[in-house]
Amino acid sequence: MEEKKTDNLTHLPTLSESNRDRFSSQALEYGTKSPNMGPMAEPDGYAKVTGPCGDTVEMFLRINKGRIEEARYTTDGCVSSRAACSAATILVKGKPVPSGQLIDPNEILDHLNGLPEESVHCAKLASITLQEAVKNLKEKK
Ligand code: FES
Repeated sequence: MEEKKTDNLTHLPTLSESNRDRFSSQALEYGTKSPNMGPMAEPDGYAKVTGPCGDTVEMFLRINKGRIEEARYTTDGCVSSRAACSAATILVKGKPVPSGQLIDPNEILDHLNGLPEESVHCAKLASITLQEAVKNLKEKK
């Protein structure tokens, strides 16, 4: 397992007024309030992935009776990556473990009512990191 390094992955996002108009209200809410952001102690599943843009996402999973009881994340990424990671951790909650891999980027984008076009890859990074955390969970069993 990779080292759990969360330095600089929990800073608060900033967004100019002109940029705000480019986000749906759901994406803006998740991107700025960032539900489920912050590390988890002793997770059952963990992954850290750096996307092509250079941003890094960590995902932490807690399992109870074969279901994902809690999912959390950290990132040094943009408002869109926060929105996408918050959506992914909300969507995956309560799913049976094999289904944890089925949160695809489109599901995240639908939940957020879209993201600015140049930020669609943020949903992919959230989805991939979640999949890797589920994979890590299975490896540990
Ligand atoms: S710009 Fe890199 S994850 Fe959003």
